[in-house]
Amino acid sequence: MEIIKTIELMQELSDKWRRNGHIIACVPTMGFLHQGHIELLKVGRDKGDRLIMTIFVNPTQFGPHEDYEKYPRDTEGDLDKARSAGVNAVFMPTVEEMYPDGFQSTVAVNTITQYLCGKSRPGHFAGVTIVVAKLFNITKPHLAIFGEKDYQQLAVLKQMVSDLNMDIEIIGIPTVREQDGLAMSSRNKYLSPKERLSALSLKKGLDLAKAMVRDGEKDSITIKNAVKELILTHPFTAIDYVTICDPKKLTDMENVNGPSLLALAVKVGKARLIDNSIIA
Ligand code: PAJ
Repeated sequence: MEIIKTIELMQELSDKWRRNGHIIACVPTMGFLHQGHIELLKVGRDKGDRLIMTIFVNPTQFGPHEDYEKYPRDTEGDLDKARSAGVNAVFMPTVEEMYPDGFQSTVAVNTITQYLCGKSRPGHFAGVTIVVAKLFNITKPHLAIFGEKDYQQLAVLKQMVSDLNMDIEIIGIPTVREQDGLAMSSRNKYLSPKERLSALSLKKGLDLAKAMVRDGEKDSITIKNAVKELILTHPFTAIDYVTICDPKKLTDMENVNGPSLLALAVKVGKARLIDNSIIA
């Protein structure tokens, strides 16, 4: 497995692979890998014949009071896992390599970035789009794999690729969960054992909403209130948002009378957790 830290060497390797007719799959990550990341790598392994994983904790997608400095890191562990998953090259640049002095460009996806996490994390998706656009130009993949756990991120990146005619297939992978239902996330590391129990309320909320819809409830406000109530019966929880929206446009839905996504963001102790599910 090659470990590459400079943009120039990564581009050279990808160019060589492309010249030799290989199909390049790319899995961008911020490291501290868990089974969710590994599932993305498996799909990359299956769909491509050269697999690149990137590890870069991207400062531009963190707000000023967010956890950039504290974001968990484990480079050695990540490299071991990448090797076992059959990664051919890990691209892990420094911040200076990605954002040299004088850097000044943006990639703006304007509408669907306004909803859900876009409201509470202004600038977050602009950070995601610029870094992923750069990673695409650096790793030159034919396909790139992302998790549905970050549903809005996946939607924003699909929109970017479509709007900018990037010749890259974006593949979404269902959320990988712990046995008890908690969606895997690098940020779960922040949870104390008691908070970890409260974190289960996100998945329980999604399940409750699905059951209500199955039982015929259509009113979004009624469903959202029940979900919020359930979450708040758990200690250490503070709700950022509970939203029922159109799975494609991400616009609010007053009634569940067609495909609907329930997306939620909840602070549990210091950890801001997100989860989502199609409920109809
Ligand atoms: P990170 O949080 O490390 O996630 C990397 C990829 O793993 C994303 O596509 C994310 O959706 C996926 N993922 C995380 N948890 C998952 C789970 N439980 N099940 C399935 N997939 C999961 O997302 C980012 O990094 C960054 O924003 C990035 C795209 C790398 C840009 O900096």
